[in-house]
Amino acid sequence: MNRFQSKVAIVTGGARGIGETTALRLASEGAQVAVFDINEQGAQNTAAKIRSATGSNAQAYRVDVSNRRDVEASVREVAATFGRIDILVNNAGILRDNLLNVMTDEDWDQVMDINLKGAFLCSQAVEPHMKQQQYGRIVMLSSQAAVGRAGRLNYAASKAGIQGLTKSLAMELGPFNITVNAVAPGFIDTEMSKASIASAKQRGIDDFEAYKQQLIDNNPIRRVGTTEDVSNVIAFLSSDEAGYVTGQIIYVAGRPVV
Ligand code: NAI
Repeated sequence: MNRFQSKVAIVTGGARGIGETTALRLASEGAQVAVFDINEQGAQNTAAKIRSATGSNAQAYRVDVSNRRDVEASVREVAATFGRIDILVNNAGILRDNLLNVMTDEDWDQVMDINLKGAFLCSQAVEPHMKQQQYGRIVMLSSQAAVGRAGRLNYAASKAGIQGLTKSLAMELGPFNITVNAVAPGFIDTEMSKASIASAKQRGIDDFEAYKQQLIDNNPIRRVGTTEDVSNVIAFLSSDEAGYVTGQIIYVAGRPVV
């Protein structure tokens, strides 16, 4: 399938994890991909993998998504290099877990700035290009944590915020044939989830494998998620086939989430 032939995609946080898998997946179906990451070397590695594995054009950009100047300059460069911007995957995100009584302003602000403001800045920067084309697909990364997590209040608030942003932008950008949706993963085996052991410790679990096993035992599908589980859904939402789907939050968690 070449669903993304002649499409240009930006994937933020594409140096590793879900972003890397998504960038490779979109390219494997024909997309040209701009990999945005604060980790420049990681972004370059992903772009090189894309070029050698798929033959698609791919470029790396060092971008801090919470920095307006970085975002605007790189989006301008992508438009100049590739000629259009069809797909934006707002994937960059961080965790800074802490209980309320010890959470610092810095923990709060960093998570909000990268996870939520970053998605706002990137969406704002691509909007004129998508509007002018009368075509666009924006996919956000929310999380199962949006429904609430002890010890993860900043992250949960940012990911619940993403859901409000998604639905609002879907209303605002629909008339320009731009759809805006979010995927909300459960536990996906990535470097970020290894870091989540910090909050698991607060629940008396200090072994990553034991923590993972507990999640598996409690999951109806009896496994944790993979980055491919998430990128499959992102690819669908980024495709022409999803043209009448907008403002939706799709949980990719192996379970119903309420
Ligand atoms: P990860 O930590 O493996 O990768 C995140 C990427 O974002 C890294 O390459 C990192 O360098 C980049 N990044 C961080 N700050 C940045 C900034 N200021 N500007 C640009 N890039 C930046 O994370 P993972 O697990 O792949 O998660 C990707 C997204 O999925 C995140 O938004 C995360 O919140 C969300 N998610 C992940 C889940 C999981 O279980 N792994 C569950 C639910 C949501």
